Amino acid sequence: MRRVTLTQYLIEQQRNHGKVSPELRLLIEVVARACKAISHAVSKGPLAGIGDAVGSLNVQGEAQKKLDVIANEVLIEANEWGGQLAAMVSEEMDGPYQIPNRYPKGAFLLLMDPLDGSSNLDVNISVGTIFSVLRCPEGVTEPDDKAFLQPGAKQVAAGFAVYGAATILVLTVGNGTVGFTLDRELGSFVLTQERIMIPEDTQEFAINASNMRNWGAPVKRYIDECLAGKTGPRGKDFNMRWVASMVADVYRILSRGGVFMYPCDAKHKEGRLRLMYEANPMALIVEQAGGAATNGQQRILDIQPGALHQRIGVILGSKNEVERVTGYHTQQ
Ligand code: F6P
Ligand code: MN
Repeated sequence: MRRVTLTQYLIEQQRNHGKVSPELRLLIEVVARACKAISHAVSKGPLAGIGDAVGSLNVQGEAQKKLDVIANEVLIEANEWGGQLAAMVSEEMDGPYQIPNRYPKGAFLLLMDPLDGSSNLDVNISVGTIFSVLRCPEGVTEPDDKAFLQPGAKQVAAGFAVYGAATILVLTVGNGTVGFTLDRELGSFVLTQERIMIPEDTQEFAINASNMRNWGAPVKRYIDECLAGKTGPRGKDFNMRWVASMVADVYRILSRGGVFMYPCDAKHKEGRLRLMYEANPMALIVEQAGGAATNGQQRILDIQPGALHQRIGVILGSKNEVERVTGYHTQQ
């Protein structure tokens, strides 16, 4: 069997499909290399004191874990010198990180959630890294927040690594969604899911049900109908899963279908997840795999962001279910 590595995949995308420039290829390879280092650190578990709080809060007001900070540093150190980037932003930093003057600057912007789901670290449940790549606007040499505020449809690449039983890298460069598994002996990501397609229908939903009393009527209606099972309006039984690590929940949906929801509710009025670091990259990955992603009202990838750390309601996964929940919102 021919083993296709990430490098080979990217070169083929460059040669045969014109989807990837040499600079973008290098950038993605550097991000993947950083993910390997983070995967290694995560796998040390309590031996490396992972899950320990560092005593600080990030810009979102959440307690930073030692590994949140380490993952952010690993990604910055790996990416700052290569010459592909004009600047980076991260869920863990207040504003854009400028490329130091001693290094050349490039044409891309990198956005990242260095360690998604990190509240799961101390209980040994999967966490991951989410990233998104945009083009730096023409003529901008010191990108400020505004340079990053582009709708998700402008992403030239997006991906995430999930550090689970296996470390898996999911990627899209706008030509479908593919998955690679880390071969730890060889140290390379090997193509294992060549064309990920999310089934259009599903019998599985993912939502944090502890927010039920805060949900709006459309979400409540959808979940009630699922829970009613065979004898209810849907005429079938539904299963529920909630890992509370977006990377793990989305990976499951890419693997076997499902609908993932973190909607706006009375407590999370703007939503819980971040548009730039979580919703946009996941929306592109899911759409490229034949799924859909909305905030209940409109396609996530069409939304014009207003702020770097903006939050948003998210409904994504199997197309027919996402369209149904979105319809419950828009037909009110
Ligand atoms: O990064 C935010 C996040 O940890 C996601 O990975 C996950 O889907 C969600 O928050 C979990 O939220 P909750 O703690 O409300 O279940
Ligand atoms: Mn996150």
